Amino acid sequence: MDGNGRWAQGRGLPRTAGHRAGADAVRRVVEAAGEQGIDVLTLYAFSSDNWRRPAAEVEALMRLLRGYLRNEVDKLRGNGVRLSFIGRRDRLSPVLVRMIESAEETTRAGRKLHLRIALDYSSRDAIVAAARAMAEAQVFSRQELSRLLDSPDVDLLIRTSGEQRVSDYLLWEIAYAEFHFAACHWPDFDGAELAAALASYRSRERRFGGIPAAV
Ligand code: FPP
Repeated sequence: MDGNGRWAQGRGLPRTAGHRAGADAVRRVVEAAGEQGIDVLTLYAFSSDNWRRPAAEVEALMRLLRGYLRNEVDKLRGNGVRLSFIGRRDRLSPVLVRMIESAEETTRAGRKLHLRIALDYSSRDAIVAAARAMAEAQVFSRQELSRLLDSPDVDLLIRTSGEQRVSDYLLWEIAYAEFHFAACHWPDFDGAELAAALASYRSRERRFGGIPAAV
């Protein structure tokens, strides 16, 4: 969800105003994802490297997440959305952890859309943790690593604000992902932008290392 800061700076506003607008975009895009038939949507809300940001910005982001959980969980459940989180929890505040656990429990039965929020997330750390578990069990395979990561393969990776980096995100899971780079900042990303990304995705031929289907 890149570009919150630039969106705000372009309007002469503080970066936190951009994050607030970014949280509004999350609400809109989650609704659009359900309508556009997406099964799983994973949003990168806070990377493990984002702790390097000024404390006030980090606290503003955590406050927005608490607000999102406080205000949206009932609506998500009503709309058949299952909400879960990936990433570390031991560095989050106990209040936020309790809210996350409660939201996951409340929405567990949702089948229309699985919304996953990556929070204090580092794909490299997740892979190291899974590798450690494989070593303990002495079971080493692609399937086992995928099972331990508990994270499906990604079909489409969308990056906003013109960024063209992966930034420690779902590194194992994006092995055959298609990439879409949207020029707009995240607060301006909406249902139409999502539809454009999906149209681009559908126009591609995914060969997974094979040859074109007609050959
Ligand atoms: C990246 O843009 C954005 C973030 C690190 C935070 C994303 C968080 C939210 C959208 C709000 C809370 C989330 C939820 C799920 C309610 P940036 O700050 O790096 O912007 P820049 O690239 O323009 O500096």
